[in-house]
Amino acid sequence: MDRLQGVACPRLSRRLVVVGLACLALLAAALPAVASAARPGKAAIAAAHPLAVAAGEEVLAGGGNAFDAAVAVSAALAVVEPYASGLGGGGFWLLHLARGDRDVFIDGRETAPGAASATMYLDSGGQVIKGATLDGPLAAGIPGEPAALVHMAKRYGRLPLARSLAPAIRLAAEGIPVHERLQMGLRFRRKAMERSPALMAVFYPGGEAPAAGSLLRQPELAATLRRLAAGGFDGFYRGPTAAALVEGVRAGGGIWSPEDLAGYRVVEREPVRGRYRGVRITSAPLPSAGGIGLVDMLNILSGYDLGRLDPATRKHLIIEAMRRAYRDRSLYLGDPAFSQPPVEQLLSPFYAAGQRTSIRLDRATPSEVLAAAPADGSAGQDTTHFSILDAEGNRVAGTLSINTWYGSAFMPPGTGVLLNNEMDDFTVKPGTANAYDLLGAAANDIAPGKRMLSSMTPTFLESDRGVAILGTPGGSRIITMVLLAALDWVDGGDARSMVALRRFHHQFYPDVVEYESGAFTDAEIKALEALGHRLELGTRAYGNMNVITWDYATGRVGAASDPRSAGEAQVY
Ligand code: GLY
Repeated sequence: MDRLQGVACPRLSRRLVVVGLACLALLAAALPAVASAARPGKAAIAAAHPLAVAAGEEVLAGGGNAFDAAVAVSAALAVVEPYASGLGGGGFWLLHLARGDRDVFIDGRETAPGAASATMYLDSGGQVIKGATLDGPLAAGIPGEPAALVHMAKRYGRLPLARSLAPAIRLAAEGIPVHERLQMGLRFRRKAMERSPALMAVFYPGGEAPAAGSLLRQPELAATLRRLAAGGFDGFYRGPTAAALVEGVRAGGGIWSPEDLAGYRVVEREPVRGRYRGVRITSAPLPSAGGIGLVDMLNILSGYDLGRLDPATRKHLIIEAMRRAYRDRSLYLGDPAFSQPPVEQLLSPFYAAGQRTSIRLDRATPSEVLAAAPADGSAGQDTTHFSILDAEGNRVAGTLSINTWYGSAFMPPGTGVLLNNEMDDFTVKPGTANAYDLLGAAANDIAPGKRMLSSMTPTFLESDRGVAILGTPGGSRIITMVLLAALDWVDGGDARSMVALRRFHHQFYPDVVEYESGAFTDAEIKALEALGHRLELGTRAYGNMNVITWDYATGRVGAASDPRSAGEAQVY
């Protein structure tokens, strides 16, 4: 071997003993990096609930790989965080296959039912019917998560699906301790839930909200999971589960058909890729706006030496990059099967250079000065994210959702499945913002079979230093959270600093910088306001990021769960 990790070695000869020894020393120094880059030798899981982490650990310990663990963690999250994701929702799973050094993006996003139409949420006067996109079964897209779990287990897992679903089945059948977030969501969504007796029976047993620490059993969900484990795709999308879902939805005023379920398909997509200061970014493609937004922002920022700027100017530029990327999101993005968003242009460094010409160092750009956007958009506040690394170097970044807290607050009787309200992520009417104040365009209007635009941004960062696996829930703020964490990693941050850093967010409209307490110093607030930014201190902390890092040089695997919530991160 003449070259290893960039170390050039002349051939050894007697006359070059000294050079040879020096060369061997260099090789020895280089070897550990090569070995650790090939295989971490350790596994890690970071997720929003300790029982979901335990489910993944059980499957890893039973001989599963990261993909089996991802099935186990996803299914367990459906049981322990029923307000955030589940079989009645969808998600994106970004996989890295160590063998073959390949990335795969699994799109298990919900689709609009076959009877859906662009005007389905408008009254006869053309106004949006209040609550129609959020509450009840008319708000629900056709779920993609069950199909994605079957697909991931079959194509990439090592264990049978039933083995990976076993921990979730046990949790649903035996019960989980009621925790604070679960209770908080129940209080918040009670009114909408009262219209779904099946759901009330599970979450308000005997008519009362369950006490903290009491056991919450979900026997019908356990039965649905068992049918999925036994029958795979058909165990959910055909047969008794499908029949109960369709019957319940239609009886509740929804429009699903058996064909909608039987016709659901997972899509494997090429991830979005970008580069920023020597870091390779691999992230979510359409129908998520996440990867495009992330790369667009980083491309804009790559024109500045952020490290040399004073902190207020640095933050001003980050805000201006956010503003422009969210403008593009609202103008152009939607399901690529239904329109041709200009993805190549949005990802081009030349486009970013053009965007930079409109950025002034001495003044915020009012959003209204940039070309006006038609309105409405997408993203889920109560979504969930987990990160997994296995000992062989396989990785998963999974972000899953039923959209807002407890989704549509509707459960078809006999299924235990809480349905999403992801239809709100479509552009329901141009000029009307969605639950997350996002704007959208015709590219994201409703059509049968179409996938609604998402903000979920499961992401890998990779450089000579190592790898970071990250993502978060947080609605429209997901993409800016991932941006800030990525900038932190580029600056030498680790898993712990990435999840903990104080966040700020701008999404084009409303023309406001929302920030967490501590995101800006008093001096920065003054400086940013002097530039013309409107700052608003958020009422509460947001996000629930889960990050795993693997350092090639030291072999160290780090994992951290957001201190704002009750998740867990473990290295094995
Ligand atoms: N509803 C969550 C998202 O896809 O952005």
